[in-house]
Amino acid sequence: MKLIEVKDLSFSYDENIPVLSDISFALEEGTYTVIVGHNGSGKSTLAKLLAGLLAPNKGEIKIGGTALNADTIESMRAHIGIVFQNPDNQFIGSTVRDDIAFGLENHLVPSVKMDEIINTYAAYVSMQDYLDKEPSSLSGGQKQRVAIAGVLAMQPSILLLDEATSMLDPKGRKEVGELIHALHQKKQLTILSITHDIEETRFADNVIVLNKGKIYRFAKAEKLFENPDDLKNIGLDIPYIYELRAKYAKYGIHLRSRDIEGMAEELWQLNLKK
Ligand SMILES: Nc1ncnc2c1ncn2[C@@H]1O[C@H](COP(=O)(O)OP(=O)(O)OP(=O)(O)O)[C@@H](O)[C@H]1O
Ligand SMILES: [Mg+2]
Repeated sequence: MKLIEVKDLSFSYDENIPVLSDISFALEEGTYTVIVGHNGSGKSTLAKLLAGLLAPNKGEIKIGGTALNADTIESMRAHIGIVFQNPDNQFIGSTVRDDIAFGLENHLVPSVKMDEIINTYAAYVSMQDYLDKEPSSLSGGQKQRVAIAGVLAMQPSILLLDEATSMLDPKGRKEVGELIHALHQKKQLTILSITHDIEETRFADNVIVLNKGKIYRFAKAEKLFENPDDLKNIGLDIPYIYELRAKYAKYGIHLRSRDIEGMAEELWQLNLKK
């Protein structure tokens, strides 16, 4: 089923300056999509439109077949959980438990049920041992994991991340990256992740490249990086593994791995066959 359908979407903050123009794409339920593009290409604006925080000037967004508009927006907001860039701006409670519970309390979930939900989602993000800790004592990666648990506790159909890893150190980025990957693989969650980290595209089903407010490419990662110059022409890098693949392809060696270890193994096996 197509969970997200965007058709001919255009938006501008100031009527003379288009920020997004004629954006159309559709995403299947359970897929993991990464959105990349330069600063100012309109990624966060698109996220806000999808979350119903902004209204389009033209075009339509449908979530699960229902169009987002003034009449449906209140009920539709619950379908999209958003995690933003700065982990410190997402905390309200004095403990990790309070933070995960925050959205639930607003939805009048009975307290017995609430404990169960908090424990479940804290375990999803491997933070079950930190429930009584103060959020300020956590690392950046742990804070983002708690933020993700709080959003998931609301049981959205879509998890939308706007540069959720960009303020983290390499360890935090790896932790959160792996969590996103696991949520997709094990929980079949529909994930839309905006990032500047091109390496994140390696495990995505789809990649959307935004350039100057337009969709430059919408493709499977495998397909998109087949021709490295396509992205380099607009000044974007491609994941290191695909750089390597392209180099080997020039010599007629077509590798399929999405990580270095797998690639080393593939090369080793080829060597054995010779
Ligand atoms: N609230 C606003 N009012 C006016 N213009 C805005 C507003 N927010 C963003 N813009 C402009 O809209 C354009 C797209 O911004 P947006 O934040 O969507 O880009 P982005 O791709 O998320 O960039 P970044 O990678 O820097 O986060 C930019 O030119 C920006 O200056
Ligand atoms: Mg942005």
